[in-house]
Amino acid sequence: MPATELRLGVNIDHVATVRNARGGSYPDPVRAAKLAEEAGADGITAHLREDRRHIVDADIETLVAALSVPLNFEMAATEEMQSIALRHRPHAVCIVPEKREERTTEGGLDVAREEDRLARFIAPLREAGCRVSLFVGAERTQIDAAARVGAQVIELHTGAYCDAHAEGRIEARDSEFTALREMAAHAHSLGLEVHAGHGLTYDTVTPIAAFPEVKELNIGHFLIGEAIFRGLKPAIAEMRRLMAAARAS
Ligand code: PXP
Repeated sequence: MPATELRLGVNIDHVATVRNARGGSYPDPVRAAKLAEEAGADGITAHLREDRRHIVDADIETLVAALSVPLNFEMAATEEMQSIALRHRPHAVCIVPEKREERTTEGGLDVAREEDRLARFIAPLREAGCRVSLFVGAERTQIDAAARVGAQVIELHTGAYCDAHAEGRIEARDSEFTALREMAAHAHSLGLEVHAGHGLTYDTVTPIAAFPEVKELNIGHFLIGEAIFRGLKPAIAEMRRLMAAARAS
């Protein structure tokens, strides 16, 4: 892959959110994933939550069979999820913290606090051939711990940067941005592959996509929302255009 290339993983969780609002089978997140592939997504991300509030087990099974691009399976570090991952052996497993009461994944993993447990949790996933990614905040202690527990990838949580931007808190946005930039470089220097995601939009993607160390962005909620207005394929195409422009500049 050329050094300038940046992958886009499209997160289809919220197609399932709309489906589940009515309890039937429409709209089908797998159909959305296939459309995303056609629009140039390099991967599909799906988060099987403990409470199955959007993606359900059958979606993962169908995605594994139907996708031509890699599946990034997001999950909490629980025994149940580990056994599902070991059964399906997705290309990548992204481990995220999960709280039942949260609306979305609010923060990064506390890898430093759970080093031993996470090291034991990750080992069989790696042995099964999955690339293991840890979703972390832009904090040196967490990134250093991620390298120690055997993760190959970290995904930097961009939510605080995006929220500060949306709320016009410019100082906070800029300090979150600086931390993300420095920690992308730090993670790369430790040999970790660097991904980023959460809350990214057309307004916030460009500076993050410009980090040379970032190899993949995972974007969901905004793209599924934007699909209402311009259709899924054009929404993804515009994100890809912005990412490529950021990379070329
Ligand atoms: N990356 C991770 C690890 C996530 O948990 C999520 C949300 O499920 C995303 C990326 C995508 O975030 P958003 O839906 O806000 O674009």
